[in-house]
Amino acid sequence: MNTSGNSDPWDSSNSPAPQEADGGPAPLEATGGPVPLDPSGGPAPLIQVQHLDHAFLEGGMAKQVLHDINLTVHGGEIVILTGPSGSGKTTLLTMLGGLRAAQSGSLQILGVELLHAERRVLTQLRRQAGFIFQAHNLLPYLTALANVRLGLEVHSNWLQLGRSAMDARAAEMLTQVGLADRAYYYPEKLSGGQKQRVAISRALVASPRLLLADEPTAALDRDSGREAVALFRELANSKGAAIVMVTHDNKVLDIADRIVNLDGGRLV
Ligand SMILES: Nc1ncnc2c1ncn2[C@@H]1O[C@H](COP(=O)(O)OP(=O)(O)OP(=O)(O)O)[C@@H](O)[C@H]1O
Ligand SMILES: [Mg+2]
Repeated sequence: MNTSGNSDPWDSSNSPAPQEADGGPAPLEATGGPVPLDPSGGPAPLIQVQHLDHAFLEGGMAKQVLHDINLTVHGGEIVILTGPSGSGKTTLLTMLGGLRAAQSGSLQILGVELLHAERRVLTQLRRQAGFIFQAHNLLPYLTALANVRLGLEVHSNWLQLGRSAMDARAAEMLTQVGLADRAYYYPEKLSGGQKQRVAISRALVASPRLLLADEPTAALDRDSGREAVALFRELANSKGAAIVMVTHDNKVLDIADRIVNLDGGRLV
């Protein structure tokens, strides 16, 4: 495995982190780092969305699915996003993580404006974020442990620590979700809930400052769901992470600092 050649042109370790317009501290940092202040003197929010619209092209016509979204999330906060099917929850979540380019409005994530951002900036953001997708997206030819290790392999500091350190951290994470004995299973031999817990482990393993989770507990029983969101709370409290979670799961709603509702592409 390449740990020092930096052949990947998008590797954030190749290039200086983006600077804020005023030349202040680089906002996208792997861990900790100085937190910029907002004009009120408090810590700047990790997510600040203003007047965000989004449209998909359908049959040559633009179909608007997000309308004038305004959302602010500070470090340490867990925001739950609810709303009917098709209301735009996944679309919004993918835009917060730089997986989908913003077309208009403003989208400041970890201190960086994503509207018209270069691909390099979006790639760097994606490495800072933990994602849990609606479909768990595990790689079928990798064991549970190796799937979790992928969450570390995008970070040059972890790559430098080497394979055994990454394996130890991945194993620790699997233990936290109750899957220590499934580390060497392939996804096809895992139940739906176990696969979901592997996906949660992969998202949390590098302690991201931004966690975006789409129905992360849908396949989990009550206890596993509660244990998963307890890990989210710990991440928010100990690392000051901002967490946005789409869920309708009544068993976990009380973990939220705030619940926001999306209806027909509008926050209501
Ligand atoms: N790639 C795409 N191209 C065109 N339209 C899309 C695309 N992705 C989503 N849409 C449309 O955008 C709207 C919002 O979809 P989205 O997946 O964000 O909804 P959702 O709130 O996550 O729904 P669910 O609860 O069913 O997951 C839907 O009408 C959907 O058909
Ligand atoms: Mg969705």
